[in-house]
Amino acid sequence: MIHADLGRDTISRHIYGQFAEHLGRDIYDGFWTKSGTGRWHLRDDVIAALRKIQVPNVRWPGGCFADRYHWQDGIGAPEQRPTIVNTMWGNVTEDNSFGTHEYLELTERLGAAPFIVGNVGSGTPREMAEWWEYVSFDGTSPMTALREKNGRHTPWSVRLWGVGNESWGCGGNMTPEYYADVYKRFATFLAAYGPVRPFRIATGPNSEDYHWTDVVMRDAGRMIDGLDLHYYTVVGSWAHKGSATDFSEREWFTALQKALHVEDLITRHAAVMDQYDPRKRVALVVGEWGLWHDVEPGTNPGFLYQQNSLRDALVAAVSLDIFNRHADRVRMANIAQTINVLQAMILTQGDRMILTPTYHVFELYTVHHDAVLLPLTFEGAQPRYEYEGQSIPAVSGSASRDKEGRVHVTLTNLDPNRAWTVNGEIAGAHVSRASGRVLTASALNAHNTFDQPAAVEPAPFTGVRVSGEKLTVELPPKSIVVVELQ
Ligand code: AHR
Repeated sequence: MIHADLGRDTISRHIYGQFAEHLGRDIYDGFWTKSGTGRWHLRDDVIAALRKIQVPNVRWPGGCFADRYHWQDGIGAPEQRPTIVNTMWGNVTEDNSFGTHEYLELTERLGAAPFIVGNVGSGTPREMAEWWEYVSFDGTSPMTALREKNGRHTPWSVRLWGVGNESWGCGGNMTPEYYADVYKRFATFLAAYGPVRPFRIATGPNSEDYHWTDVVMRDAGRMIDGLDLHYYTVVGSWAHKGSATDFSEREWFTALQKALHVEDLITRHAAVMDQYDPRKRVALVVGEWGLWHDVEPGTNPGFLYQQNSLRDALVAAVSLDIFNRHADRVRMANIAQTINVLQAMILTQGDRMILTPTYHVFELYTVHHDAVLLPLTFEGAQPRYEYEGQSIPAVSGSASRDKEGRVHVTLTNLDPNRAWTVNGEIAGAHVSRASGRVLTASALNAHNTFDQPAAVEPAPFTGVRVSGEKLTVELPPKSIVVVELQ
């Protein structure tokens, strides 16, 4: 049943956020490339592709890199910027040609909100406060004078601000008690400039670490706007994660089963947050999520380059459904990462670029951006996908009503072996027509390559019927469908 006239919470478009770290070929060779004359510039093809998925925000410069990054290394004349070693990711040389101005040009061209993660681990409150002042203050000050000298008169519109990254691990190996104090210290000096104030996002828990959430919310919750949970889907172990494309049905099932676990994580972290913040002022931000596979054979292990198959697309779809369903608390998320790293939207090779199956899910789900979440239930017993004595739900979905009053439903069939027919009633709207698109392929591991860039891409969908108030959708095996009801 879809209650088209009900709905309370808005699915924030910020759930569909991206993540660009100075890691492998995400920035360099991804967003940022060298022309024949040796000049660095933003890639127009990448920007055009990302504009189509309406990227709402881009998290930068990390990740673990953020707590090693000193922002003043990345401003001023490029040839005068220091060259450093990226000790976090492969000890490669970082020439700092992509810094604050270049990042903010990127977000402006994407029409996306910046989401800067400041350095807590190896930085100081002064360094972070000056970065905030440099990008946000509209008056006379040492930092605005420096900004002017570097060619930018007016401040940018920056609001989303991370106070450290994974401070329980690569960001400083802190306890939650210690981090809560450090957070308050850093956050105190991120000044409000009139109505311009940062939306301060604290390091949140690693997966099931409910103790972290409890202590940080208890000790620092009143100064926090967002709490950043990180959860990666790893099919095998961290030492042997498994291949992105060479896998069996067992690994298909496990990937989806582990991806669905984020529902439990969100429910339990949200319950802890409710104890300190019953009015849900503080957003739960899923600031890093996605499938983490072994790197592609022959590539630098420190670059985290992996292929992306139909399995990744389904993991993205079911994860986004879960975030959508928790729209009351989950108001931001960032898939890791945008280009050439982990569960990417785009892979590049020289001048060439391909869109991954995950990219197509983000494109199909644009219909939910800033739309009202609608209650969605299915008739009859919930279909289950069974595999070797275990089972998970066979169908996942989200329904929403956009600003024009159109109702969209996204449905995913997790079962690779059988089609499922979903029947439901549409209440509270007169619907006479339905149209849709589908993302599927014949093989579990179907993926796009530079030779076959369109092996997995959306196609028109004919398996939807509306008759009176009845909606019937015939979901092909291992597919994602978006339906528009009119
Ligand atoms: O996304 C890759 C890394 O995973 C990030 O840098 C870090 O925050 C996380 O552990």
